[in-house]
Amino acid sequence: MKFLIVLALVGAAVAYTPLSSGDADLVRSAWDKVKHSEVDILAAVFSAHPDIQAKFPAFVGKDLASIKGSAAFALHATRIVSFVSEVLALAGNSATVPAIKTLVNQLGQNHKNRGVTKDQFNEFRASLTSYVSGHAPWGDNVAAAWNHALDNVYEIIFSNLDGHPVA
Ligand code: HEM
Repeated sequence: MKFLIVLALVGAAVAYTPLSSGDADLVRSAWDKVKHSEVDILAAVFSAHPDIQAKFPAFVGKDLASIKGSAAFALHATRIVSFVSEVLALAGNSATVPAIKTLVNQLGQNHKNRGVTKDQFNEFRASLTSYVSGHAPWGDNVAAAWNHALDNVYEIIFSNLDGHPVA
């Protein structure tokens, strides 16, 4: 029993562990299937979580259907998707871990300054994962690699939201 409690505590503080190159390839090939659906991805996130949409000055209070076709929407969607692509391009190589940390620290800091919460990041994660798993070949191995990648990124984001950029 004590052993289980210790395990649970260790599990709660999951450390950043770089992806193997095989797992990074699995995540990239799933991502490749959806990365040109930027607008659909952001629309799925906003539709499931209107509180996220409400954080965007350009979109707050607007009907999703009315903004989905706009240039501003496409621009934001592309920024988010490009960020994911940029981080994934660096994954699976221990030499690029510092570059990933720099990029994600910056994102975490920008979003902390905008008042984005951990709950909202978790909502975003759930919507993004649901979108990718529904539009790319998916299995336990892909799911495990995908979750590992997002655990790593979220550890850095949450550390920034707590006021501690990752070294
Ligand atoms: C989880 C809830 C999130 C909220 C509420 C949120 C909100 C925002 C807002 C308000 C902006 C500024 C938009 C403007 O210029 O008016 C922004 C910019 C941006 N967001 Fe997010 N965001 C979230 C998650 C994410 C995630 C998960 C990513 C990346 C995967 C991301 C990537 C970006 C990028 C790349 C920019 C533009 C660069 C910057 O200013 O940081 N956001 N976000």
